[in-house]
Amino acid sequence: MSVKDIREIDLKGKRVLFRFDFNAPLDANGAIKDDTRLRRALPTIKYAVDHGAKSILTSHLGRPKGEVRSELSLKPVANKLSELLGAEVRFVNESVGPDVEKAVAELPEGGLLLLENLRFHPGETKNDPEFSKQLASIADVYVNDAFGTAHRAHASTVGVADLVKEKAAGFLMKEELDNLSKAFANPTHPVVSIFGGAKVSDKMGVLRHILTKMDTILVGGGMANTFLKAYGYDVGGSKIEEDMTNLAWDILRAAGERGCAVLLPDDVVIAEKMEQGVATRVVDASEIPAGHMALDIGPKTIALFKERIADAGTIIWNGPMGVFEIPEFSKGSMEIAKAVADSTAFTLIGGGDTLRAAAQAGISDKISYISTGGGAFMEFMEGKTLPGVAALDT
Ligand code: 3PG
Repeated sequence: MSVKDIREIDLKGKRVLFRFDFNAPLDANGAIKDDTRLRRALPTIKYAVDHGAKSILTSHLGRPKGEVRSELSLKPVANKLSELLGAEVRFVNESVGPDVEKAVAELPEGGLLLLENLRFHPGETKNDPEFSKQLASIADVYVNDAFGTAHRAHASTVGVADLVKEKAAGFLMKEELDNLSKAFANPTHPVVSIFGGAKVSDKMGVLRHILTKMDTILVGGGMANTFLKAYGYDVGGSKIEEDMTNLAWDILRAAGERGCAVLLPDDVVIAEKMEQGVATRVVDASEIPAGHMALDIGPKTIALFKERIADAGTIIWNGPMGVFEIPEFSKGSMEIAKAVADSTAFTLIGGGDTLRAAAQAGISDKISYISTGGGAFMEFMEGKTLPGVAALDT
């Protein structure tokens, strides 16, 4: 696959249609709660301004399902970008049509215009050719910097790509692909991946794919319970996915055949309820009593996982080790986060909960690379071709 870099295209005076992933979490009042995805887009935006592009910025926000939902307007994103850039970001409350055409025509070189949420149109998620054509009609160049949305085959990520004269990847897209490839395509061994989070079903495809590439897989969090059950343990009242136990067992067997060590918790922190202030106890993973749930990994497991982390050449972390939002069950995730940060390995983390756990541990700046992808990160790990990347192939 040959994907052009934005620097290979002359942007001066051209109308450049950018696809970003400004799908930022909002708080209860609809304000942007975390502007990381906006900040990560800044290098590409600044480059476009400095090189005299007429920049048309696009994104989705949430899942409005083809309807105009005012609480999912990108207007607050325009204001925030303006503040971050110290420059005017114009906004038009449509993504296609005469108002957009007029705003684009009035855009000066180095100017910035953000269009309204693409998903207010049903054509976006359907990758509708007509909607793609409308988007393409306002641009000379198409640049995709939305790694976080690259697993979606939508009009703005796929349909539009071949309808514009020139196309390229932005800096974030390039950086994501370079760093994820570094961890998966040609990693320094031993490669250790740490998996956690609530649902094992979300991770099965990834686990099946990466066990051929990993030396060790450490499993914690709620998903470990399904593995413990598959292993034949009684997990008490812990939440498991019963229909996944056979697959979990297949993974354990396949990993064993390939020489990939899968380490499950030896001990766990249990409680009767998943809430702050409850009484907790550490028990062996084989001895979780009825009516109790495993809600974090225990001290023996932390020590065991830390040993593997300390020896690693590459570490990939996705999913917390327990219910880290509740202090009683946060130790496993915090300790693992610190161990990852202290490692000299190339460290890669991805997924919203993992990023939040790293931030809570105060170690985000000690990670080699933090992916902005959630679903896209998972699909990349699963070995899937991301449609948004494939569409950039020239
Ligand atoms: C994400 O947050 O993972 C991306 O922005 C994609 O959003 P989606 O799952 O609504 O397509």
